[in-house]
Amino acid sequence: MNALPENEGLKKRVAELEEQLRVKDAEKEKQTGHFMLMSHQLRAPLVSLQTVIKGIVEGITDDPEVVRRLLGKALARGDEMLDTINEMIVLGQLYSGGGEDFVGGTCEAVAVLVKCVETVSPSAAEKNIEIQTETDASAVAAISERALEHVFINLVENAVKYSYEGSTVHAGLKKASGGKVVFTVEDEGIGIPEEAVSGIFDEFTRADNAKKHAKTGTGLGMPIVKKIVEKVNGKIIVESEAGKGTRVEVIIPATGPAS
Ligand SMILES: Nc1ncnc2c1ncn2[C@@H]1O[C@H](COP(=O)(O)OP(=O)(O)OP(=O)(O)O)[C@@H](O)[C@H]1O
Ligand SMILES: [Mg+2]
Repeated sequence: MNALPENEGLKKRVAELEEQLRVKDAEKEKQTGHFMLMSHQLRAPLVSLQTVIKGIVEGITDDPEVVRRLLGKALARGDEMLDTINEMIVLGQLYSGGGEDFVGGTCEAVAVLVKCVETVSPSAAEKNIEIQTETDASAVAAISERALEHVFINLVENAVKYSYEGSTVHAGLKKASGGKVVFTVEDEGIGIPEEAVSGIFDEFTRADNAKKHAKTGTGLGMPIVKKIVEKVNGKIIVESEAGKGTRVEVIIPATGPAS
């Protein structure tokens, strides 16, 4: 008589196990995809670099100006690879539950922002983009200078990278109640399509409009920013509209006023 409830219980258990297997498979597939993308990400610039060097070694040209231009290209590809590897090292530390040494400490947030805007300025100038910086009174943020640099550079770089020629990027920093530092970066660029917003913190994930607008990119910047911000008990909020622009807000604990 009680065969039916037992069957139901069994069915439920089988369904649970099937679901667990499905989740595991999806996770495995995701990891395999990541490895493939990672290999591709490193392979593509290496192949291009080798092609250039091979051409020079084989005497493709005697013109020193052409050789110089080719070597410049090879150098840029090498830099690209180094950036990717550096990002992966940081991400690896943060993912393995570590990274305390990397994020720990304090720094004067306004000074870090000014330095980061200077770093991004040449790529902004290339696109005739103005970066307007508005900062409040100085504040000491409870995060290492190196980690905060990663946050600011990645976000300001994205704002510039995904903006149109001649537009303006606003980068702001202010103190908020409850001992917090609030950083905002706003652009008038391509925006993030609604269906892509949830994926921007996933590693190696780039929206289709971003791939069209800027060919190169690893899709590691935002995941790194998120990991760093979470590690210091901060918060990140992204608001975006495709074709209109993007606003990113980062809230970071502060330790008190700068002297
Ligand atoms: N300001 C922005 N405007 C439009 N899209 C953005 C912006 N910031 C991030 N995105 C979207 O989020 C994705 C992930 O950003 P992320 O910085 O991780 O990667 P990336 O810029 O493509 O490459 P990289 O790792 O070199 O920074 C981008 O590819 C893009 O689709
Ligand atoms: Mg980026």
